Amino acid sequence: MAARIRAVRALQVLDSRGNPTLEAQVTLADGTAASAQVPSGASTGRHEARELRDGEGGAYGGKAVSAAAANVCGPLDEALRGLRLDDPARADEIMIGLDGTPDKSRLGANAILAVSCALARAVARSRGLPLWLSLAGGRRAKMPLPMVNILSGGLHAGRQIEFQDFLAVPHGFRTFAEAIEAAAAVRSRMVGILRADGRLPDGVADEGGLGPRLESNEQALDCMVRAIEAAGFEPGRQVSIAIDAAATHFHRAGEYRLASEGRTLDAAGMIALYGRWLDAYPLVSIEDALAEDDWDGWRAARRALGGRCELIGDDLLVTNPSRLERAIATRAATAVLVKMNQIGTLTETLRVVDRAEEKGFRAVVSARSGETEDSFLADLAVATGAGHIKVGSVTRSERLAKYNRLLRIEAGWDGRSPEGLAPVRPLGHHGCRGDERVNDA
Ligand code: PGA
Ligand code: ZN
Repeated sequence: MAARIRAVRALQVLDSRGNPTLEAQVTLADGTAASAQVPSGASTGRHEARELRDGEGGAYGGKAVSAAAANVCGPLDEALRGLRLDDPARADEIMIGLDGTPDKSRLGANAILAVSCALARAVARSRGLPLWLSLAGGRRAKMPLPMVNILSGGLHAGRQIEFQDFLAVPHGFRTFAEAIEAAAAVRSRMVGILRADGRLPDGVADEGGLGPRLESNEQALDCMVRAIEAAGFEPGRQVSIAIDAAATHFHRAGEYRLASEGRTLDAAGMIALYGRWLDAYPLVSIEDALAEDDWDGWRAARRALGGRCELIGDDLLVTNPSRLERAIATRAATAVLVKMNQIGTLTETLRVVDRAEEKGFRAVVSARSGETEDSFLADLAVATGAGHIKVGSVTRSERLAKYNRLLRIEAGWDGRSPEGLAPVRPLGHHGCRGDERVNDA
């Protein structure tokens, strides 16, 4: 018989940027206890659920989360105490109902998500299952393919260049361990290339990538190809490139402003630019190619590019079931970025991943730029068989917590192992016409 919830509480801890965040702890009547921490974004989308911060006059320059912690220890504890955990979605439904707002702004998406994840972990522990297996339910658990941040720009690296992430996608390997090794080799070669060019920055960007000052966004792609080759890999066959443009954050008054290049493009100009990059580079995936409310642009992007690469919606879709439905109905995007704190519960997150899968959208489980040592989303990526995981670079321990957890899962340290790496079709450069599921060309 499923255990009951005995108590829920929360503590203010710090994230990888040194900002306060929440850790919730759940205790069950059978004595099991488990906790979970929540992350926080910097290049956030307008349509995300709201994290609750104390605001002006509060500690940590107003960023403290003591009100959110009090909501966990007060109303959420009261509402959940004694609940029998036979239906995993029930606790999330109760919290959503108690909050009562569409964006979880009353109790805070941070408060609700911390409890949601801690509960899932407590349930897994109480059942004696590894988290990924407990979360999987009827889904086919699989090791994900990592998309690893190598170069950073935009809001994560002082806007040296506008595009936010240039990532290595090591798809030509048999195991997660080999894929991570390849990504680490590319990153290390990139350090050498930037040093030789006199462009190696001091320190690392928010997600552990390198944030150099470059002459153009395109130069980042040149550097990526050089680093992949220098590491001994064939670009497009073993290691390809993904971009997170995070275009919302350089979009003003209907225009995309590439300040570092001294030019401005409209949506058609951006799509033409991506088209040229797809011709010239082993590019397999573009995230937030256009801004969060540029639905017409997104539809045009999918018509023009959707057969050649993944078009991932992050700020566009914000892990939100209704925005995903709109993208499905209107043929905008071909994949969804999955960030639990954009929606605020595990149940709604799983609903988005399942619906994406059903409609032929790929799902990419993602961390935030402000992260913690919690590795929950490594288990989530495996459980959902989503296929991809994007948690930043291979430095900084808040990133490595996820990669190292995946290495342990793959090695069978939980006593059970999921299937191998998700098969990823060689899109783009050397690839076929790409993804027929969503190809409306
Ligand atoms: P964020 O960035 O966590 O700052 O929103 C991550 C991303 O844009 O993918
Ligand atoms: Zn993004």
